[in-house]
Amino acid sequence: MIEQAIYYTILFQSGNCIELEHRLDVKKLKEQLKQFDDNWKPYNPRKHNVNREGLSITSLDGKLSGVPDLDSIGEYNSINKTDIKPEDINKPTIVYKNTLLQEFLKPFDPWLCWSHFIKLKPGGHFPIHMDNVSENILNIDTIRILIPIQNSNWPYCCFLLDKQILEFEYGKCYAINTRLPHLIFNPSSKDNINIILNIKITEESIQQIGKLFPSIASIMNKGNIDRYVNN
Ligand SMILES: [Fe+2]
Repeated sequence: MIEQAIYYTILFQSGNCIELEHRLDVKKLKEQLKQFDDNWKPYNPRKHNVNREGLSITSLDGKLSGVPDLDSIGEYNSINKTDIKPEDINKPTIVYKNTLLQEFLKPFDPWLCWSHFIKLKPGGHFPIHMDNVSENILNIDTIRILIPIQNSNWPYCCFLLDKQILEFEYGKCYAINTRLPHLIFNPSSKDNINIILNIKITEESIQQIGKLFPSIASIMNKGNIDRYVNN
């Protein structure tokens, strides 16, 4: 447990929103997504008037029912007396298998869990909250990676992380420290779509994400890493 907390802290040492060197073809993905137009489900159906839908990339059984992956897992567990964790929601769905995501997500594959598209319809929002925070502050299981797909920036949508508006490039991957207070809302008349990935925290997964940091990646490509830099 302490190791995961340390890895998490190390990952976000250089910022709370880290842009990774890994970009998907948004135009192609949106074409491929059309086959799933009827498979979007209400996201957290226990909450009303939040205008959100989800489409599962991974789920508990590999199906697209949205149960329990698009529900509040905590509330689902307490009602059903289960103990499902984000790491358990790791079976690839047909959305993963029948789109470019299968190839694109390969670098994260061994640790990929609880991943989905989220659509915020006009007026849709997530009120201010913090992820991954429990009574035990050392209890951190996963890292959130966001991939903006459609209408993800102001004025169509606004992602506020610790008082800062985040600006995204479509198709890029952003590791975000969502343990900080954050909210997202869509004040526009168009749908906003993002992918949210959860990556299980292990030594290997953090190293893998580290390799996708632009600064580290460009140095590595030049074969020019000096452990003890002396300029
Ligand atoms: Fe969140």
